Amino acid sequence: MAEDKRDQAVTEAEIAVHWKEEELIYPPTSFIAQANMTDETVLERFGEANFPNCYKEYADLLDWYEYWHTILDESKPPFWKWFVGGKINASYNCVDRHLAKHRNKTAIHFVPEPEDEAIQHMTFQELYVRVNEFAALLRDFCGLKAGDTVTLHMPMTADLAVTMLACARLGVIHSQVFSGFSGKAAADRAVDAKSRVLITGDAYYRAGKLIDHKEKADIAVDEAAKEGQKIEKVLIWQRYPGKYSAATPMVEGRDFIVNDLLKKYRHAIVEPERLPAEGTLFLMYTSGTTGKPKGAQHSIGGYLAYVTGTSKYIQDIHPEDVYWCMADIGWITGHSYIIYGPLALAASSVIYEGVPNYPDAGRPWRVAKELGVNIFHTSPTAIRALRRADPDLPLKYDHNFKHMTTVGEPIEPEVWKWYHKVVGHGKAVIVDTWWQTETGGFLCSTIPGLHPMKAGSCGPGVPGIYPVVFDDEGNVLPRGAGKAGNICIRNPWPGRMLTIWGDDERFVRQYYARYNKDPKSKDWRDWPYFAGDGAVYAADGYFRILGRIDDVINVSGHRLGTKELESAALTVTEVGEAAVVPVPDPIKGRVPHMFVSLKPGYTASKELEQKISDTLAREIGPFAKPGKVWIVPDMPKTRSGKIMRRVLAAIADHKDPGDVMTLANPEVVEAIQKMS
Ligand code: PRX
Repeated sequence: MAEDKRDQAVTEAEIAVHWKEEELIYPPTSFIAQANMTDETVLERFGEANFPNCYKEYADLLDWYEYWHTILDESKPPFWKWFVGGKINASYNCVDRHLAKHRNKTAIHFVPEPEDEAIQHMTFQELYVRVNEFAALLRDFCGLKAGDTVTLHMPMTADLAVTMLACARLGVIHSQVFSGFSGKAAADRAVDAKSRVLITGDAYYRAGKLIDHKEKADIAVDEAAKEGQKIEKVLIWQRYPGKYSAATPMVEGRDFIVNDLLKKYRHAIVEPERLPAEGTLFLMYTSGTTGKPKGAQHSIGGYLAYVTGTSKYIQDIHPEDVYWCMADIGWITGHSYIIYGPLALAASSVIYEGVPNYPDAGRPWRVAKELGVNIFHTSPTAIRALRRADPDLPLKYDHNFKHMTTVGEPIEPEVWKWYHKVVGHGKAVIVDTWWQTETGGFLCSTIPGLHPMKAGSCGPGVPGIYPVVFDDEGNVLPRGAGKAGNICIRNPWPGRMLTIWGDDERFVRQYYARYNKDPKSKDWRDWPYFAGDGAVYAADGYFRILGRIDDVINVSGHRLGTKELESAALTVTEVGEAAVVPVPDPIKGRVPHMFVSLKPGYTASKELEQKISDTLAREIGPFAKPGKVWIVPDMPKTRSGKIMRRVLAAIADHKDPGDVMTLANPEVVEAIQKMS
């Protein structure tokens, strides 16, 4: 393992040294004239001398039932608590408080994937009514109350927003699982969260097909039962209200159609619960370095303040903006920057059901034009795919973006420039926002009205975030060192998760143990947050993120744990050993290649490759399918018996695996190379 890590660091250092400096591009005056943040004193206001009190500015963007008395409780690092003593409700802040001024303004535009279906526009008043009715149903029909958990496995619809906000109103902790995950993956997460209610949808459109989603609920309930968690009720939202669109039958007494139940709760009003700021708003499961996904547990007050502040100043959201984050709500980006941040600021947020290039790559620009979208947010994978489909197409549309975001993976400067010139017509600012599921909101980005942009670099820490790059020995790599290291955040911030659900020890070990020198220290300065990404700190103070340094593979901006994939492959009877490596891909950034060796007595075949691939789709989800399955005669191993992933990665990428003579079985390398 140490050997693998060193190799990776060497590659990163080489990238860093050979990295070409990109020129700075200044935001247009038209953007600056309207920007929420053009006052340079923000840098000082959020500087270290004013920490942690600077975050009062973010807290004051929200409405509190009781104002907090302690901005940061530092008594038990790294379990810091923000805005202690405060009482708040996220649903109230995203819905109720806007009624006075924005009652009839659109809160959510729901864009169905089929282009001949009308776009649905939901006002804040309508959202208020629907959230109240559904909250009443959750409380009275399901018996859910503050502190309970509920697992959601919902597709991209406005109903998902209603569901999350109804949970938040009651203080029920929602745990939305990306709809592309399998029933088994939903079950694992429901078991960990101890949910007795599952909320799902009957069907949704993806790439032109109406997919039966309810069948996954049946699998989820069965699998959860096997693991000892009884799911008593399954609530099903209908894609077409009043019509059941799945082929999978309903299970009497367990499955309930939401639209039928809601009739009983029409006109219900549910007072928002007055919840402690440091209470839990939601869980978001993410992949880590061990097989089991971990639930990032996010707070109510700190999280909401942080995503609202960063939505205002980094996303530059004003209430009159139409904002489209083309991500899935099943990932953290959707929670923070489709739902909570934009709605807390009373923006109109677009929820798009399907894939970006359906029925063709012009779809995003037609939607943007029709709705008057002026802020657009997506991932490098989507940008690369749209660019490949037709590099001139966006120029033929007259959509009008003032601001664009890229998130989730490193973006190549060439792709960034295309996004800027072609999608943004050369006049939109771009923010490249670096952050993670665990961090709740942005960590590094330029402030769009203040800082120039630099293709391929995310920028400095956002206000109130003090990043640092350490080498493996814990020495600080200063600006312009020209070397890659491990990026960390030196200080606590309100958006950071409270802990890993049910696993405080893992939380400390994974994020803080690496550079903490004194576990007894009460001083936050002794507890740098270890992000798990390699980065270079340029002379101008901008960070360039190089990607994961651990066993996590970032595919299309989605995190997959290699251990997770390997344990799924090992459930196939024939498989003796499995090793997954990331391989560069022109569209997805990285794709996993799965290497397996078989147990004695079994032979390789195309059918077996398919079986392994299908198993990954079933256990995790179709997006986890490997780019290629390699059934190899044996794994290349060190003399101590460790699989040399570095060698496998080089072969998969048609690169020279380097000196392999020190391996226990060098001859196997050549045999595998012949297979490529
Ligand atoms: O490797 C970094 C990459 O995505 C990881 C976090 O993934 P996830 O928790 O799924 O959250 C994705 C959305 C925030 C990081 O550890 N990453 C995220 N944003 C960027 C990035 N890599 C480079 N540039 C970014 N802007």
